[in-house]
This record gives sequence, C-alpha cells and structure tokens, in this order.
Amino acid sequence: MRVAGAKNSVLKLLAATVLAEGEYVLHNVPDIADVHCMADLLRAMGMTVTGPVGGTMTVASPADLVPEAPYELVERMRASIVVLGPLLARFGQARVAMPGGDDFGSRPIDMHIKALESLGASFRTEHGYVVGRSDRLLGTRLLLEFPSVGATENALMAAVLAKGTTVIDNAAREPEIADLAAFLNRMGAQVLGAGTSTIEVEGVETLSSVEHTVIPDRIEAATFLAAVGVAGGEITLEGARPDHMDMLIAKLGDMGLRISPTTDGLWASRSRRLRSVDVATLPYPGLATDYKPLLVALLSVADGVGIVTENLFSGRFRYVDELKRMGADIRTEAHHAIVRGRERLSGAPVKAPDIRAGAALVVAALAADGETVVGGAEHIDRGYEDFVPKLAALGADVHRP
Ligand code: EPU
Repeated sequence: MRVAGAKNSVLKLLAATVLAEGEYVLHNVPDIADVHCMADLLRAMGMTVTGPVGGTMTVASPADLVPEAPYELVERMRASIVVLGPLLARFGQARVAMPGGDDFGSRPIDMHIKALESLGASFRTEHGYVVGRSDRLLGTRLLLEFPSVGATENALMAAVLAKGTTVIDNAAREPEIADLAAFLNRMGAQVLGAGTSTIEVEGVETLSSVEHTVIPDRIEAATFLAAVGVAGGEITLEGARPDHMDMLIAKLGDMGLRISPTTDGLWASRSRRLRSVDVATLPYPGLATDYKPLLVALLSVADGVGIVTENLFSGRFRYVDELKRMGADIRTEAHHAIVRGRERLSGAPVKAPDIRAGAALVVAALAADGETVVGGAEHIDRGYEDFVPKLAALGADVHRP
C-alpha cells in the first residue's frame, strides 16, 4: 500500500502560501476533507486553488488578500488558526475566528497569541474573532511553555518575514515542522534547526512561490500497521518514513509485531497474538497522541494488561466507550486507561468522535466477530484518503454504504 501525504504537513504548507505572491505547486497531497477545507479558506481570502488531482495541487496567491479566516471554516477545522502568523507577517493585520473546544476537550490558542505578541503583534478579541495588528514584526527570543505544534508553526511562519533574528526555544520537533521549514527555506526563508527544540530564523524582506512534495503521513502508516497488528498477515507500506516513526515502531516491536525498513518504506507482519505494553503519549519524538486510539484498539485484543497515559489532550478517551460497546475491557481514570486484552471483540454499532478514533474503531472492527457499523464516518474522511478501498484491497470485508 502506498502511504498518502501528511495531512498535518500539507495544511500548514497551504497556510504558508499566504506569505508570498505567486504560483505554488504541491505534490503528494492527500485528497481529504481537511485539505478541501483549507482550500476553501484560501479561496475565501482571494486565492485560486485547484486539485488535488493525482496528488497535485496548485495555489495562485495574489498580491492582495482578504486577511480573514471566517468562523464557518475555523469551526470546520481548527488548524485554520495557522493562517494567523503568515497574515500578520505579510499584511500586518489578521482577523481569525477563535476556534472553540472539540471532542478532545478544550484546545486554547494562548501560546500562539503570546508568541506573536512577543514578535510585536497586538491583539483584541471581538465578536468571537481574534483581531491582530502589527507593523513589521521584530525578531526576538521565544520560549514556548510547551512544545505546541500549532504555536511553533504560527511563530515560525511569522518570524520568516520579521526583521532580525528569532529563536524559538522549546519548539515542537514533529517531522511536519521540519517539512514546513524546508518549504519556507525553498521560498527563500532562512530557518535553521527545525526538527530540534531550538529553531533559529533570520528574517528576510520577501519570499517567493515554490514547488514542493509533502512528506508521507506517519499517522496513516500507523493506522495500517495497527490493522495488521489486529487482523494478522503482512503489509508493505510504500513511501513510509520509518525514521519519522521510531518510537511507534519500537513500541509495536515490543508488542511482537515484526517490522523492518525496505528501500522505499517499511514492511510488517504479525503471526501470533500481540503482547500488551504500557503506553504514554508525549510530544515528538515521544509517542504521538494521534497514535493512541490505534494502540488502545491493539491492546483491546492483545495478551495481558496495558496502561495507557494521555499527556496531551484532556478529553482524548471519549472513544473508549465505543470500544467497550464492542466488548473491550477498558477502565479509564482521569488521563489513564487500563486495557485488559480480550481474544476477540464483538461487532456492534459505534460512533466515531474524531478522525483518529474513527480509524481506530474501524481497525478494532477487524478483530470483532460479526458486523460493526461505524457512524460518523465523515470524521475519518477528514484525514484519510480512500480509507475503505485501501482496507478492502488488503483483504478487509468493509464497505461504505
Ligand atoms: N495548547 C495550549 N495552548 C496553545 C496551544 C496548545 O494550551 O496555545 C495545548 C493543547 O491544548 C494541547 C497541547 O498544547 O494540550 C498540544 O497541542 P498542539 O498545539 O501541539 O496541537 P495542535 O497543533 O493543535 C497538532 C495536530 C493534532 C495533534 C497535535 C499533537 C494538526 C492540524 N493537528 O494539533 O492532530 O494531535 O498536534 O501532536 O497538525 C489530527 O491530525 O487528528 C490531530 C488532532
């Protein structure tokens, strides 16, 4: 199976097209609902966007934009908030709807705002919108309270056009941040250290449009590894980057999944029932919170007891009740879950609360006797291209009514 481009990278690359006028070409873009949502946001600001067709998307960014992200779009996808930094850096003004909470609980943007304020922007809130203004931003030293992915990206996209040097300390280190920095550097920015905790940016006067290929989606790759872990068999994931998934590969290895790199991706196989392990989510290079529902699904049918600790999002255990409807033996206590593995689960109607939990319920269904009907499948469409055909091609009995 070929791994699609990373949702959490391409959304930010699309936001970065705000930074300079011109024609952009992006390759390896997944055809998913969130990409269409970001395209709608760019169009609302005045850009011309086509695709993705065959994985390629083009964006024409004009000289002037409407520097605004309306509520209808931010409410559909909170990642829209990453246009705030680029809008302020290029136009000195931005009006972006405040994202509300979501199914993981409260998700504030205080660190985004604080970082942009340190660069010289000022903000007020009115009618549910954050309204930002700035003269030319000024480079400074930013120390993030927590290595937030979105705050790092907003600060980085603002700093590339700021005057002077910006250092972002305690930056998020996710591969998607390194991809964004590679894109920005190709545009003419001077960013060093992305992918480590200290990013140094030398501001430039202007940037220009570019062509770029998006990195593969490590979470999609993980989803199919989990499917093999649950159902057995083997898989070759073409285009996957094992070096972006070290901790997950180690954890799945501890559980008994055999995984090895290939020339262009990775291969995995499961011959026996997996063993339980304990799991704690952490910022990269720790185990991603986005892997966790998949790991809980795996532990539900593994041999033994696993303790799962969520360290990023307070409400990210809501899907556990759905897994329990399928017979999983899970107890949650604050940000911990205790999962006692069962031989099999039992198919049931369940409801997907978000993208990753939705995918995990489908994965769990592969080890459930009888039929499972997953409602709320539109959540899965936000992040997975051709999820059902891909699973069916691997031998799963799955269809989309
Ligand atoms: N946080 C704050 N204040 C802020 C920003 C974040 O308190 O200003 C807190 C959050 O509430 C959370 C923690 O910091 O507890 C981490 O949040 P982070 O900012 O790192 O997450 P994000 O940028 O909002 C991205 C991904 C998520 C992924 C997280 C963590 C995108 C579009 N989203 O979100 O992916 O779970 O990083 O790795 O990149 C998904 O793909 O389904 C998804 C939810």
